[in-house]
Amino acid sequence: MQMLKNAILSKGKAINRDVLLVDSFLNHQVDVELMRHVGDAFAAYFAGRGITRVITIESSGIAPATFTALALGLPLVIMKKQTSRIMTGDLLQTTVRSFTKGTSYELTVKRQFLNPGEKVLLIDDFLASGEAAFGVLHLAREAGVQVAGVGIVIEKAFQAGHQRLVDAGIDVYSLARVKSMSENCIEFVD
Ligand code: G4P
Repeated sequence: MQMLKNAILSKGKAINRDVLLVDSFLNHQVDVELMRHVGDAFAAYFAGRGITRVITIESSGIAPATFTALALGLPLVIMKKQTSRIMTGDLLQTTVRSFTKGTSYELTVKRQFLNPGEKVLLIDDFLASGEAAFGVLHLAREAGVQVAGVGIVIEKAFQAGHQRLVDAGIDVYSLARVKSMSENCIEFVD
């Protein structure tokens, strides 16, 4: 998606070979016009597959997932990273480890938002080693829900996530695939 690649090249900053800062349009401040185009692109790719809900993980996946859900006319379910006193009832939970951030969290969703037999679409901001996506796959399997695809805004194609998901039979559609990056150069696949 050229508009997204242009934003990455003009506003993104690789702080090293592994981490791309995109907090001026995706992770902190959000370019909603760009996110509208992102949502339309995911909706065009995943339309007609019988998808019943869009799923994301808080927090940076929410903006692209919202516009995708809007374009598809579907509800959005936000998986939580933290529970609270008011998050009660029948919960599905799994531990996800983030290698990029060096942290772990309990990925949590209420079972009532994942009905057996449904087909869901996972939308997230970044794909690195795929741990978050595998956490969602795990909870979906527990709920008896099929993951019909994974839409990623920025994929770090030099990390293993994409191949791991493809090997698990998942259709992964990434709008920008970063092949390599350094402080003064960001290269895309294709
Ligand atoms: P994985 O799920 O593919 O294995 O990725 P990993 O654990 O390595 O990273 C997960 C967290 O790190 C996610 O944020 C993701 O957005 C973020 N992340 C990964 N690579 C980059 C990068 O190059 N640049 C930036 N800016 N973020 C990256 P999160 O913990 O879910 O936080 P949030 O921003 O969604 O709240």
